[in-house]
Amino acid sequence: MKRRVDVVVAVTAAVALILVGCAKENIGQPVAQPSTTSASATPLVTTSASAIATTPSQTPSTTSATSSPTATSASPTSHTSSGSPHRSKTPVTQPPLGTNVDCGKVACVALTFDDGPGTQAASLVRTLTDARTPATFFMLSSVAANNKAGAAAVGNNLYMEVGNHSISHPNLTTLGASAQQRQIVTSQQRLEAQTGRKVTLFRPPYGSWNGSVRKIAAKSGQSLILWNVDTLDWKHRNSAKVVSTAMSEVRPGSIVLMHDIHPTTVAAVPNLIVALNKAGYTLVTVSTLLGNPVPGKVYSGR
Ligand code: NI
Repeated sequence: MKRRVDVVVAVTAAVALILVGCAKENIGQPVAQPSTTSASATPLVTTSASAIATTPSQTPSTTSATSSPTATSASPTSHTSSGSPHRSKTPVTQPPLGTNVDCGKVACVALTFDDGPGTQAASLVRTLTDARTPATFFMLSSVAANNKAGAAAVGNNLYMEVGNHSISHPNLTTLGASAQQRQIVTSQQRLEAQTGRKVTLFRPPYGSWNGSVRKIAAKSGQSLILWNVDTLDWKHRNSAKVVSTAMSEVRPGSIVLMHDIHPTTVAAVPNLIVALNKAGYTLVTVSTLLGNPVPGKVYSGR
């Protein structure tokens, strides 16, 4: 009889321990809305799909100060496999990550990745996150539609910023106003649905724009973002050259153009981050670099 009691006690204790363990894990859950985290000094790395869709009133108050960069809650694959709705109706505005950096005082550089999300987007996001390095992804909404996991990997990670690079990469100056509208605004809306993030940056394909493009961008709340460091990664497809080209042209306030659809570029990123940090640069998103970019205004750096 006593042995049986002991067994019951042991089982009860084990269940209690498991419950405590679960409760502890829940403390590390990410915070849903940037507005609830603005007071936290510790940057958040990753938010879960469900967290993005959560309204502030549903957010447990205990989570806001406790998340650390290592408190990664879910991998991109788990978002897609669970089928959970990362498509929040109200896209999340740019999170507070990096907003404590004053690029007027610090030598900032923004890394940008175009034409994706590429097939290696999730792994690139992990590399960037491990190095606590924010970056901006100018996605094609047609590509994001075919790479939902990649779009989610970027959208669910609060180090990353989502920018718009049109639906299908046309030269906008060859199009009429209604076709431009579709490439600029419909694409913006699609990307917001695909990533769950608010999109306020537009990079015109080929860096090609005109007055009509500016007008449409201004009306839809998007700034035009060009670049002043071109790694020409699409041309040479050489990782070492990506790093050397970037390092020879970079200066404080630079926006660096790359393409995450090329494996050679993705492979170059760890070395590029090390080189830039060694040279004293702080890596930030485009929005942080520019402060509050004005819709309809054209920027190629700070
Ligand atoms: Ni492009």
